Amino acid sequence: MIDPVPGQVSAPAPVPAEAVAPLMRGIAVLRQLTEAGGTLSLSGLERATGLARSTVDRITATLARMGYVRLDGRDAVLTPRLMELGNAYLAALRLPALLDAHADALADELDESVSLAVGDRDGIRFIHQATRRRAMSLSFRIGDLLPAERTAPGPLFATEWTRADWHHWHERRTADPADLGFPAIPPRTEGTGAPDSDFEAYVERARADGWALDDQLIEPGLVAVSVPVRDPRTGRVACVASVVSHTSRRTATGLREELLPRLRSTVAAMEADLRADLREGPTAEARVPPSDLAAWTGASKQELGREFVESLARGLTVLTAFGESRAELTLTEVARATGLARATARRALITYEHLGYVEPTGRTFTLTPRVLSLGFPPLSRTSLPEIAAPHLAELADRVEESASLAILTPDSGTGTGTGREIQYTARAATRRIMSADITVGTRLPAHRTSMGRVLLADTPDGDFTEVRQQGYALVEEELEQGLRSIAVPVRDRTGRVVAAVDVAMHSTRRTAQQCVEEILPELHATATRIEGELRTAGRFTRVPLT
Ligand code: PHB
Repeated sequence: MIDPVPGQVSAPAPVPAEAVAPLMRGIAVLRQLTEAGGTLSLSGLERATGLARSTVDRITATLARMGYVRLDGRDAVLTPRLMELGNAYLAALRLPALLDAHADALADELDESVSLAVGDRDGIRFIHQATRRRAMSLSFRIGDLLPAERTAPGPLFATEWTRADWHHWHERRTADPADLGFPAIPPRTEGTGAPDSDFEAYVERARADGWALDDQLIEPGLVAVSVPVRDPRTGRVACVASVVSHTSRRTATGLREELLPRLRSTVAAMEADLRADLREGPTAEARVPPSDLAAWTGASKQELGREFVESLARGLTVLTAFGESRAELTLTEVARATGLARATARRALITYEHLGYVEPTGRTFTLTPRVLSLGFPPLSRTSLPEIAAPHLAELADRVEESASLAILTPDSGTGTGTGREIQYTARAATRRIMSADITVGTRLPAHRTSMGRVLLADTPDGDFTEVRQQGYALVEEELEQGLRSIAVPVRDRTGRVVAAVDVAMHSTRRTAQQCVEEILPELHATATRIEGELRTAGRFTRVPLT
């Protein structure tokens, strides 16, 4: 271990001559939007990034065309589609696919939060959260970055730090004594955190014990115990699993005495799965290269418009070349996967390496955990109603009728389905006055509504066979005179129907036939958009249905 270097902060590395400036600006915009919680006005972006307004406009227009941002009046809003960048990192890493279920099962068993984190230079970054946290303490999100010295996983990662890592840590502590560079945690004040001089001892203890404790280093009340999960190939720490609690339920000592043994046996099972994966290799499905090239790549320059910054779009596409069984790629492989010219792919990789999103090892490149800072923390909490809302608004606008999203409430055990209800979870009303006074939260008998029939048709005892076959339900005047509604299902990644969307109108507005001819295609298009975002958002997180 090296001595602290007080007051010495190295200058940032110079920008390489070949770095792509528009890509750097686009990344800066995505970072600011992420730190702002997913939404920022265009003028707010101008202030936060220091970019000219015309540049902010072109960058946000490009991100909107790529489907990564939605422009909503004066605001730019991150969309769940952006999660495909973090998904590329998480898929390449393999750990979530292999370990998330273990973490979830432990959280269920203990009724406490369980998380997985990777080391990110002198910090830790969460790659999974099975949250059982009560309202009493902060809960972290996938992608949140915490300073190593204020967490339980931190000292376990620090047992493997190089001299350069320690040097970087000392510099960071000097430059940012209050931890302002870590927006996920409260700043240090008198009495929070521990003195820096304690950290090295804390690391040595973690090395000797093979576990570490966080006794309220982040905030009063928050306690955690952590155990490293080792990579079977190298023996190095692949990630760290933690059980997190609150002093109102357990002290740090109680956490260690009561829960550390179960955390350790879960980690042993995780390591066994990592060894098995090494023997068996990736599944056949995982070996297939990515097939869906970015949506904008087929469009002509004219279609994309003058505002479109192609070098930014190309650069971002490079991150999506990585994925499951595509963790380490050569320049040639990146170019082939993205359809970009080698020179273009090379300059993007140089830019990412400079910014810390990509790491070269010999001839290959890998993504770093920092890729999760592009949208993941706020987006990983997106619910299905939040995903659906802008799409419902667009649909309502286009057909000039009200559009809604609903789910089936849990089965109360009647079996036949006749006792079940739907619950409205999102709604976009038109200005047209409708007599039906429906708001989010409203419950209606499922079998008498179009959305209910679509939802029941997917249940084992649902008798709406025709609805299942035709893929929609049309209901006339069952609940209210003069009301007609048509609904289609919304399916998750596994094909299960998780919600329904409908358009409701006065029957005088359109015949049933017109409804099927004019509204149904729009409904299907809306459901497809919602399903696409749900699939991206749900790949490594559980998307709440309400
Ligand atoms: C968490 O998962 O929220 C967590 C983990 C380790 C800590 C603190 C919080 O030290």
